[in-house]
Amino acid sequence: MHYADTPVCRMRSLRSITLRVPDPVQSKDFYHEAWGLSTVDEDRSTFWLRATGSEHHVLRLEQHDVNALGKISFALGSRVEVDEAARALQKLGIPLLREPGLLSDDAGGGYGLQLVDPEGRCVELSTDTHAVVAQEPAGRRAVPRKIAHVVLNTVDIDRAADFYTQVLGMRISDWSEHQMTFLRCNSDHHVIALNQAPWTSVNHVAYEMQSIDHFMRGIGSLKHHGIAPQWGPGRHGPGDNTFSYFTDPAGLVCEYTSEVAQIDEDAWLCRTWQRTPELSDQWGTAGPPTAAVRSAMAGVADLGHRDRVVPGVADYFLSGE
Ligand SMILES: [Fe+2]
Repeated sequence: MHYADTPVCRMRSLRSITLRVPDPVQSKDFYHEAWGLSTVDEDRSTFWLRATGSEHHVLRLEQHDVNALGKISFALGSRVEVDEAARALQKLGIPLLREPGLLSDDAGGGYGLQLVDPEGRCVELSTDTHAVVAQEPAGRRAVPRKIAHVVLNTVDIDRAADFYTQVLGMRISDWSEHQMTFLRCNSDHHVIALNQAPWTSVNHVAYEMQSIDHFMRGIGSLKHHGIAPQWGPGRHGPGDNTFSYFTDPAGLVCEYTSEVAQIDEDAWLCRTWQRTPELSDQWGTAGPPTAAVRSAMAGVADLGHRDRVVPGVADYFLSGE
């Protein structure tokens, strides 16, 4: 699929994820009490949770009748870049959920826009968010520093990869056969990955721990809360990152990870990994994922924001039902 000759922006990093769940209080309690994030703001049934890095928040939880992705937020460098991205998106006929402006309904503030990807996901591009002092190094506390990546179940992996590379300027770091593709916007091997699936949904959200020691301490800390890994610990082939997967009270999958490969933009060559047990888990410690975690990773169909976008762009969207 050809979307664009030139990307509309240069994204600097993945800032935060918004998840919509039926009981955000229960999820907030899990991420605050057990997972290691801190609740920094709330407004009725919306909660903002912070890690130890420099983002105001890395997770926003909202109330919704079924589990869904609220939005994925990426950082741009300036307001000029946001405005330029808006003009370029409009030229390409890509629907905006929100024109450039102050993000005054978000506790993290900022200036940004929101666009819709071909499967109805909301992508936010923002700048000028509230500064916070990073709590790093975190000592020996087993707390996440940032969102490492989000994996998106997608009904057409090639079209989604074309959109995120051509329009949003991401680069493909690796493929896992024709099942998954790993995309970067900075030196981290991936900040999103796309997974071919029967419907659109969030597969999982991964949180980066400061070191492998913090990663293991995090697993131990959850064990004290009576929470066991559903898959892991292990070390993936693509990205070379450690992994340990859990499910939150909403049934969404969350991951502790560390040591993701750092990419030299000029030297990196994209590869395709075979989906063998040795490459899925280099350590050989994790074994296969359980049926329960596989089912949680598949999630429920996310019909996204299709009902909220401007009319006249119906053919832009893929059918994920
Ligand atoms: Fe992951």
